[in-house]
Amino acid sequence: MILLLMTEYGDRRVRIIGSGSREHALLNLAKQSPQISYIDITPGNGGTEAYNVPISATDIKTQVEDAKARRIDTVIVGPEDPLALGIRDRMNAVGIDVFGPTAQEAMIESSKWFAIELMRDAGIRHPETQAFYDFGSARAYVMDRGFNNIVLKRDGLLGGKGVSVPDSLEEAEVALINAFRNKAPREPILVQNRIEGVETSFMAFVDGEHIVPLLSSRDYKRVGEGDSGPNTGGMGAIAPDKTATAALHKRIMKEIMYPIVLEMRKRGMRYKGILYAGLMIDEDGNPIVIEFNSRGGDPELPVISILFSPEFDILEVIDAVKNGTLSENQLRFLENMFAVGIVASSKGYPGKYDVGKLISGLDQKLDDDSFLFHAGTKIGRNGVYTNGGRVVLAVGRGESFKDAKKKATNVISKVIFEGKHQRNDIGDF
Ligand code: GLY
Repeated sequence: MILLLMTEYGDRRVRIIGSGSREHALLNLAKQSPQISYIDITPGNGGTEAYNVPISATDIKTQVEDAKARRIDTVIVGPEDPLALGIRDRMNAVGIDVFGPTAQEAMIESSKWFAIELMRDAGIRHPETQAFYDFGSARAYVMDRGFNNIVLKRDGLLGGKGVSVPDSLEEAEVALINAFRNKAPREPILVQNRIEGVETSFMAFVDGEHIVPLLSSRDYKRVGEGDSGPNTGGMGAIAPDKTATAALHKRIMKEIMYPIVLEMRKRGMRYKGILYAGLMIDEDGNPIVIEFNSRGGDPELPVISILFSPEFDILEVIDAVKNGTLSENQLRFLENMFAVGIVASSKGYPGKYDVGKLISGLDQKLDDDSFLFHAGTKIGRNGVYTNGGRVVLAVGRGESFKDAKKKATNVISKVIFEGKHQRNDIGDF
């Protein structure tokens, strides 16, 4: 069943693309807009069931045909894959607006080497990076540098899992072998200098010229407590991140965000959408770009989404991005409020994991400062079942991180399924 929302004013027909907690949050935000008369999500998840249309996010042809048939006027794209596949270009060609960059602009995420070249030309701080096409030279370079001084990266899109930070020579060898075995023929394997420091995520709405930042946030990428184990898509997040002081915020805008948008303009690209910079702050306080993403972070965006002030209208911002009229006034946040998000994941994630485990506790009563976003969930015969690595995200809001974490912990503790894993140290550092 697709819900029809009729308001006194709304005539907009909107679609969200994706199926994670980020898209669940985008749906919630869009539903609040008084401009909306119809909204759906493709394919959605167990938490968005009433709005789901079962079309894969990457089936661009069907996406375009179906959006046309349902007279959708605006599409909001959550994940990177449809953007890299050119969904904006294809929808625009049939007169449908898309919030998100073109395939060419999205290369800032879909090709890490492209992003490095942009940063080199724009003079943006980033780790020294070499691209390798053959195993022997890559191995020799890693031996020379030392396994503990490098990070290995595949060039393309791998959902945060194409990155290896080896803790031993053996791990470096295995990572190199796997990277070369799995890579596409002309795909380079990147070896980057390892940078020590504090990580922070910086996202902004961009209209090709104006840049309006969201609250700063921090993602907890490793699967285990104390930042141990392999990288994931993100096991939790906090916002705002105190690492990004007002002074640092200014530097990030001046030294990173404006130069990269300008560099793209020099190359004929007017980047429109959310631009995400994954940063490391080194011991001298310099912001160094580890990666750019062509979309909102997951779980960072849902965590930030509960801190928008009530009058925030996502469609107003999306229209401003399209028209090149983005301004700070369109983005307001609750003052002196904090958010903590904790992911519950399936046993084995980010490696192999089972799906199809019955979940309880999803229908718990939530107070005004507690939120539960679905990710890898699916409605089945007897209720809601696990259907992915990251299953749900609980987010708490409070006047301190401690209060916010208490709310999130309370919500996530009531969500039960076989093999459930969560980090208990989100927000502690
Ligand atoms: N949480 C990291 C990302 O969205 O890329």
